[in-house]
Amino acid sequence: MTKLLITLGLVSLLGFTVITLDKPNVPDAPTKYPSGELGKMVKLGEDIIMHTNTHPLTKDLVGDDLTCNSCHFDGGKTKNMGTFIGTAAAFPAYSPREKTVQTLQDRINNCFMRSMNGKRPIIDTKASVAMAAYITWLSEGVPIKMNPKKPVNNFYSKQWINKKTVPLIKKATHKNYLNGKKLYAEKCADCHGINGMGDEDNPPVWGDNSYNCGAGLAHPHKMATWLKANMPLDDETLTLQEAVDIAIYVDAQPHPSFNLQDHLLPKEKMGYYNSIVLKEKHTVRSNFAKPFKLDIDKIRGDKLIK
Ligand code: HEC
Ligand code: HEC
Repeated sequence: MTKLLITLGLVSLLGFTVITLDKPNVPDAPTKYPSGELGKMVKLGEDIIMHTNTHPLTKDLVGDDLTCNSCHFDGGKTKNMGTFIGTAAAFPAYSPREKTVQTLQDRINNCFMRSMNGKRPIIDTKASVAMAAYITWLSEGVPIKMNPKKPVNNFYSKQWINKKTVPLIKKATHKNYLNGKKLYAEKCADCHGINGMGDEDNPPVWGDNSYNCGAGLAHPHKMATWLKANMPLDDETLTLQEAVDIAIYVDAQPHPSFNLQDHLLPKEKMGYYNSIVLKEKHTVRSNFAKPFKLDIDKIRGDKLIK
């Protein structure tokens, strides 16, 4: 009997661990907006996050056809990877990339420079405060848990360091690229287009109007992790190997190169930039080379890429 109980305990403990790793227990998004001016600010933030590239306060800061909602679904109210529920509870957080402790506004700005291929908004302007207010509202009730390792949502901090993904990327060859191409045509092209350009309802996944090479998703291990959790939309059924092969294919297509300096406003306008690192460059080629030691020409089977 004792043996049985211990076995059952272990099984449920193991089961529990697996479940929490795959699907963290993210609470529902709040539905009641704060009253008064704060509520107005939260709603403004939501509007910007849903319409970032067309909203009057942010459209000039965006350099592609994406909105925050393109990756942080339902304006971050999704419970999947990319949720903003609980995000504010991780900030301020240390960022190895900037080598400083980043505020929520800083972290939002980084997605502007990279995923949105745009410019860093000025901290404390209306747009910057509004987005931070909205994300903070979505985090109400989630206990603060400062993240000393990464400026990401604590519910998904572990998933981003997916120990199984990196070795699969390192092993990738032209065969994985070809399989990714085939899977993309089968499972993704209906929405994002065979040429990756998307349409009115579906965002572009490569080309001049998509995220640049400094974005999280431009790195194939992060893309694979994110795809496994989020795509195909409403049918997240990819195996890890399929997600890896598709990530290799999508990230090996042209994306705007990233040079950090091009994404900062002129010094007199920008205000204080909370980063020790002032030089950073990425291309498709460098994202495959570092840290994966993959040669993009061999992966693609041609020499078309910067
Ligand atoms: C192309 C996809 C993409 C777009 C568009 C995008 N993000 Fe992100 N964002 C990510 C990824 C991927 C991460 C986490 C991984 C990482 O740190 O590299 C992230 C992380 C964040 C975080 C850190 C907390 C967390 O959720 O883990 C915040 C805050 C954030 N994004 C805000 C925004 C805002 C605001 C916008 C719009 C201005 C935006 N993002 C647009 C992909 C995107
Ligand atoms: C049913 C349509 C549909 C399918 C199928 C689909 N997507 Fe998406 N995808 C979307 C939509 C829509 C969004 C943006 C979220 C939103 O607007 O709600 C998105 C967002 C994305 C993003 C982040 C934003 C960007 O444009 O970079 C990537 C990357 C992506 N999808 C890749 C894929 C891949 C790879 C597949 C195949 C495994 C796939 N999608 C299948 C509809 C789809």
